[in-house]
Amino acid sequence: MKPWPYPRIIAHRGGGTLAPENTLAGLRVAKELGFGGVEFDVMLSADATPILMHDQTLERTTSGSGAIDMTAFSDMLKLDAGSWFSPEFVGELVPSFERAGRLCVELGLWANVEIKPAKGYEAETGRAAALLARELWRGAPVQPLLGSFRPQALAAAKEAAPELPRGALTKEIPPDWQSHMEELDCVSLHCDYRMLLPQQARAVHDAGYWLVCWTVNDPAIARVLFDWGADAVITDRLDLIGPDFR
Ligand code: G3P
Ligand code: CA
Repeated sequence: MKPWPYPRIIAHRGGGTLAPENTLAGLRVAKELGFGGVEFDVMLSADATPILMHDQTLERTTSGSGAIDMTAFSDMLKLDAGSWFSPEFVGELVPSFERAGRLCVELGLWANVEIKPAKGYEAETGRAAALLARELWRGAPVQPLLGSFRPQALAAAKEAAPELPRGALTKEIPPDWQSHMEELDCVSLHCDYRMLLPQQARAVHDAGYWLVCWTVNDPAIARVLFDWGADAVITDRLDLIGPDFR
């Protein structure tokens, strides 16, 4: 099995706890701290613009309200996506995936792009995210790793841009995990570390797949997971688990 070719420590939702999630400011914070890789979430707005967003509604992370799939991107641009976090980030916008991807390429940040479809938009989101990722990273030295909890989104990404690597996200590793990996032609399995057993970590590697764990915020736990063979951890605590963590 080839060694994991990406950063071992990945900043969650951009800047973890140090910046508003899924914003350009978060990506910049990760870069400033020396991180080589970031994770963020991609969803479609009402007019099918791929944007960075975790929740299916605007309330928690913006000054607006309503469903993401009912709000046009032009209207999201009128909202503040930083003030909920702290006054330092007032004026931060909901970024399009296009802007965020361009910034990653410009900063040399590797990206683990989580395709996070609003309910009912699985295939559409997978296709749009994959096609745009292909354009944004065309000619870049390292391609992004697309991931999703939703098999339909991964299947659509595979069909649209089969050359982009894919990771299957699952909270808990199910008994039939390997057939899902094969079906979607995934290179990595991403799971909640709290549900992982050491024998499962071994089985993932033995089958030839990379293993990524989220959201690991305790350095002692990160160490255990690396001992078990995890290839990378995704963290919110950029201050505790830095890019050079060993
Ligand atoms: O990539 C794994 C992790 O980000 C999944 O959880 O809820 O933060 O998207 P969530
Ligand atoms: Ca995510």
